[in-house]
Amino acid sequence: MAGEQRLAVVGAGLMGAALARLFAAAGWAVRVSDPDQRALDRVSAAGGAARLSTHRVLAEAVTDADLVIEAAPEKPALKQSLFVQLAELTPAHCVLATNSSVIPVATVAAQVDDANARRIIGTHFWNPPELIPLVEVIQGPRTSLAAIESALAMLRGVGKYAVHVRRDVVPGNRLQHALWREAMALVDEGVCVPEDVDAIVKNSFGLRLAVLGPLENADLVGLELTADIHRVVLPQLSRATEPSPGLLRRIQAGARGVASGSGFYASWTAEQVAALRTRLVAHVTRLLKER
Ligand SMILES: NC(=O)c1ccc[n+]([C@@H]2O[C@H](COP(=O)([O-])OP(=O)(O)OC[C@H]3O[C@@H](n4cnc5c(N)ncnc54)[C@H](O)[C@@H]3O)[C@@H](O)[C@H]2O)c1
Repeated sequence: MAGEQRLAVVGAGLMGAALARLFAAAGWAVRVSDPDQRALDRVSAAGGAARLSTHRVLAEAVTDADLVIEAAPEKPALKQSLFVQLAELTPAHCVLATNSSVIPVATVAAQVDDANARRIIGTHFWNPPELIPLVEVIQGPRTSLAAIESALAMLRGVGKYAVHVRRDVVPGNRLQHALWREAMALVDEGVCVPEDVDAIVKNSFGLRLAVLGPLENADLVGLELTADIHRVVLPQLSRATEPSPGLLRRIQAGARGVASGSGFYASWTAEQVAALRTRLVAHVTRLLKER
């Protein structure tokens, strides 16, 4: 498309604000919409002002967009109502993307007619999106291939590693939460305390994951051995279809994670959380430089 490309971000929270900065830094004109003026003020304060404007009114942000990324709270009814408005307010060429973590594209687009549903996709960014390369570009049952291809090109243009996901799922979250379910089951069953579950991951296969995917690893180990291991280990794995009892018990007791000062770990100070985040960013930055 000729000329400056235009992004509208709907929802100026953690993800929306970072996505606005990412696209503005890549030369896009970015408009950010949020009903909460304080969220908009935080976006403005973070800089990039020349390419970035903030709007309380949705229509002001989206009417001439080439791409809209919705990063509003993870609530299906809210997202459905936003996409009905977006279908009406945006030009026909504009690709409409949800950054939802797990809500299917089909659910988000449920109240939109077929002609507009063709341009609704998922773009699942990972936090922090300025640092983590991957974006899963998710094709819903009514999404057109043209919308997917257009999104892949736009995302690659701003430097992201964009992958076409051909069914309406978020594979990265399936993989990640399969591991979290098992980690919580090990704690619930009394096999290990939380600190030891994390230590096992961080001192073994966690070290390999950035260079060795699970399927490459299966090929290295050999598929016969993999099948033999699965015959024994798969029956032992959690098949829970509800959140873990230990997770729910902690929430009930007010241990909600770092925000409340405890979670699986008995105590989190603000300094410990800040130090962990700093180490994480430094580690990922170093790994990406070495690639
Ligand atoms: N936080 C993460 O690590 C992460 C990672 C990947 C995907 N996601 C997904 O991204 C989305 C946003 O997550 P977040 O962590 O940035 O949430 P957040 O709570 O930080 O931000 C949500 C923002 O949406 C605004 N909002 C509320 N109603 C709105 C409306 N009607 N229109 C526009 N904005 C509205 C809120 O005021 C808030 O500023 C969710 O769907 C989440 O599941 C989050």
